[in-house]
Amino acid sequence: MTRSARVQTPAKRLAGLGTTIFTEMTALAVRTGSINLGQGFPDTDGPPAVIEAAVAALRGGENQYAPLPGVPALREAVLAHQRDWYGLEPEDVLVTFGATEAIAAALLGLCDPGNEVVVLEPYYDSYAACISFAGATRRPVTLRPPGFEVSAEDVHDAIGPRARLLLLNSPHNPTGRVLTRGELELLAAACLEHDLICVTDEVYEHLVYDGEHIPMATLPGMAERTLTISSVGKSFSFTGWKIGWCSGPASLVAATRMVKQYLTFAGGTPLQHAAAAALHLPRDEITALAGDLRAKRDQLCAGLQDAGLHPYVPAGTYFVNADVGMDAAEFCRDLPERCGVVAIPTGVFYDDKAAAATLVRFAFCKRREVIAEAAERLASLG
Ligand SMILES: Cc1ncc(COP(=O)(O)O)c(C=O)c1O
Repeated sequence: MTRSARVQTPAKRLAGLGTTIFTEMTALAVRTGSINLGQGFPDTDGPPAVIEAAVAALRGGENQYAPLPGVPALREAVLAHQRDWYGLEPEDVLVTFGATEAIAAALLGLCDPGNEVVVLEPYYDSYAACISFAGATRRPVTLRPPGFEVSAEDVHDAIGPRARLLLLNSPHNPTGRVLTRGELELLAAACLEHDLICVTDEVYEHLVYDGEHIPMATLPGMAERTLTISSVGKSFSFTGWKIGWCSGPASLVAATRMVKQYLTFAGGTPLQHAAAAALHLPRDEITALAGDLRAKRDQLCAGLQDAGLHPYVPAGTYFVNADVGMDAAEFCRDLPERCGVVAIPTGVFYDDKAAAATLVRFAFCKRREVIAEAAERLASLG
């Protein structure tokens, strides 16, 4: 083997994790002029007041390195948000380059090689990569259609003697599930029994259409062992800003900060100020964003239903999964040519591919007219 072939090996391992699908599908959408319902980002901006706060920060000289923990205005806004929305009093806060960096830094800071990370599958694509960077192993708890519920038996089976951490995500991408209190209690009991740290990714916390988002840290005994991650991207429609944060016990935040220091140190100073403005928006403006997305969810679900596909109506997030009644990868490969729509086979987010053999994920965080056009195109399938 040549030296260059050897050094490519870790990159090849990551390529095997399935996330190259987004690049492929985006290229396919561009080549075929398709509507891209593959990727999870809105095609409109978030609240104008937040953009104005970014402009003011840019013009107001907030253009140098932020302190490692983040600008005080955003750290205070995160503390106030956790207290006002959930009654939580985290000991410390760290601002990160999107939730993605918080996830990476937390896993690298909290896992030793050989540890096991219990994680709900299907999962957001960075999870598997970051678990692998940490030298840890993933132990999935599989959420299966139609209900995508967490089963006590699966949780029990996933936790072995080397388990160190539960990596949780609710509201959940890609299923759109919002975990119930009962499911969270089940997972919390497992954390307490096996002395696991919980790292919880709550980036869709304000995008709940049915039911209620319950942060894991609010469950009895969990605040002491839970690092809560969120960001401005999804809930406020600023996915390109990549301003995230984590909060929780001082020891967990410190471990994450230690790694973050050597990943990016700090970034996005003016946007950190704007993210603080987003968190200070009045409640009704924050819930209005979810109201708009609820209507889009209903519109796309109706379109999928009319097209003869079978949507599993999501309670939160940007995504709906539909059962397409055939091999999902084949369906998605042919969909742009058949009707000019791009979507993602949900199996790319699973280790257990069989659990999602006929499932396809569609994003509904698009303008109403775009969803209407996509629905019309999908209707031509039948
Ligand atoms: C579950 C989940 N976590 C985190 C992220 C990324 O968050 P950020 O853009 O803040 O890094 C995504 C984006 O798709 C996601 O779906």
